[in-house]
Amino acid sequence: MKKRVLVATGGGDCPGLNAVIRAIVKRASLEHNWEILGSIDAFDGLMRDPMHLVELTPDKVAGIHVMGGTIIGTTNKGGPFAWPVKNNDGSWTTVDRSQDFMNRLQYQNIDAIINIGGDGSQRISQKLFELGCPIIGVPKTIDNDLSDTDFTFGFQTAVDAATDAVDKLVTTAASHHRILILEVMGRYAGWIALHASIAGGAEVCLIPEIPYSIEKVMEAIDKRIDSGKGFANIVIAEGAMPREGQMSYQENNEPGAMKIRLGGAGLRLSQELKSAGCSIDIRETILGHLQRGGRPNAFDRILASQFGVKAFEMVLEVKWGHMVAYRHPNIVAVPIAEAIQNYNLVDVDSDLVRTARGLGISLGD
Ligand code: F6P
Repeated sequence: MKKRVLVATGGGDCPGLNAVIRAIVKRASLEHNWEILGSIDAFDGLMRDPMHLVELTPDKVAGIHVMGGTIIGTTNKGGPFAWPVKNNDGSWTTVDRSQDFMNRLQYQNIDAIINIGGDGSQRISQKLFELGCPIIGVPKTIDNDLSDTDFTFGFQTAVDAATDAVDKLVTTAASHHRILILEVMGRYAGWIALHASIAGGAEVCLIPEIPYSIEKVMEAIDKRIDSGKGFANIVIAEGAMPREGQMSYQENNEPGAMKIRLGGAGLRLSQELKSAGCSIDIRETILGHLQRGGRPNAFDRILASQFGVKAFEMVLEVKWGHMVAYRHPNIVAVPIAEAIQNYNLVDVDSDLVRTARGLGISLGD
């Protein structure tokens, strides 16, 4: 009987997921006694009745490395440890179905799992590993906030989308003599904002790691206007916050989902600038899921392919409880427990931040 690997993609989607899936299947096809199954919509496919698993053959994954999204679907709600269940009164609660999950693995004769996901998904991987699950993690997220890997795949493509947006906003800001604010994703990390600000040439870049003073932002805008340039571009990360404030978010009551949804930082900044006396026209753009969908760029296709090949090789090496990681120029295995210990946030003393300051970009401090 063939050995079976179950592959799942969990959390928010990200350019490069399909390239990982394809690489796993291609690498596995070089061994003759392995079968690859995909669990539809993260682990929901295994947990649902009837189960929803699909066989991933070389034919099925041919050419998918150029496609955005994930052919096996994803969800950022629920999971084996917090499965949403509707109460009789219509309200929702979550239950721990991890033992049921383990039983289902056995029922399906699964020998290994490759869980492709971000911080939340790798926390699930670690808990499953502690229950005895033969699991390997593959880090994905446009936010680049997972520790122990130089980059996650998807991040560079998101930076390309954000940079393209800055490029476009610069020309309209210049034509209309306006301030244009671009809000980008990134959760609690300012990686996308900082990279896009440097690549696109923004005047102000606000990130969660450096709470901003609205006076300092106004100073930077005034300096820019006084220099004869009648416009300015600001990139703000969704998690950025004023010094005396907190992140902008909405409560999220969807069962099994993250309790808060970030968003609104750009609009709030616009209002703060107006209250601080800014007399120039301001417009706001929220880039949103445009930076998450679509085709992965070449860098992310290559990184995702490297991760997929390595993940299957880690299955052969029985490296359970480990995550694939990029440590330039190598692809290595690191303990998942280590990778989820801390978020990978922007180091405010790093060369990247020094570069931004050296280019005259105000970080609002
Ligand atoms: O983690 C990826 C990410 O895109 C974050 O940057 C963002 O805060 C969040 O997911 C948005 O999630 P959703 O698609 O559920 O709104």
